[in-house]
Amino acid sequence: MKLAPSLLASDLANLVGAVDICERGGAELIHVDVMDGHFVPNLTFGIPVIAALKERTELPLDVHLMVDSPGRLLDEYLAAGSDMVAVHWEACTHLHRVLDRIRRGHAAAGVALNPATPVEVLADVLDDLDFVLLMSVNPGFGGQSFIPRALDKTRRLRDLAGDSLDIAMDGGIDRDTIGPARAAGVDIAIAGSAVFGADDPVAAIAELRQRSLSEIS
Ligand code: DX5
Ligand code: ZN
Repeated sequence: MKLAPSLLASDLANLVGAVDICERGGAELIHVDVMDGHFVPNLTFGIPVIAALKERTELPLDVHLMVDSPGRLLDEYLAAGSDMVAVHWEACTHLHRVLDRIRRGHAAAGVALNPATPVEVLADVLDDLDFVLLMSVNPGFGGQSFIPRALDKTRRLRDLAGDSLDIAMDGGIDRDTIGPARAAGVDIAIAGSAVFGADDPVAAIAELRQRSLSEIS
């Protein structure tokens, strides 16, 4: 299982320090939450911040676009150095075209689904997807409680898609929920507060990995 710390919960005045924590902790990816104040009420990072992060790390940037009409600035997100891009199904009218553009931009193409959106809406784009990001909280804020139904969605998506894509889970992943997530079939665990809210965030990454393994056996 890959671990992707979410910068949203880090000290935003010290993103270089947050990147350093991800690297020292052995994370495989860095999760970057882009919020536009429309699709979700909150505002976070934009394209210049992605470009600045790209200068500071070799770790792949997993960019989660919580924005309306994600096709509008897609080329800029790609040019800034996004390695994985997830657009929200709920925000995207021309999903097939957007996924094609992400792949042409040499990034992994993903769709994020809100808790209320069934995985079956993806039936006709499975071949166009590299990963699906299942939200286990409602998007917009860190530190919310895990919605257990996301586990059933994971199993249904695995039945639907087989091993052709990675399943990422985002929201409320902590030492108690990461094991069940892995057991359900999650490939990429995204964690904000469980990493950056810990006393020792570097150790928290290793501990999450340990907990994900111990609960599957
Ligand atoms: C929520 C974001 C998440 C957030 C998760 O809208 O997409 O990536 O950082 O935070 P935690 O792990 O604290 O639930
Ligand atoms: Zn996210």
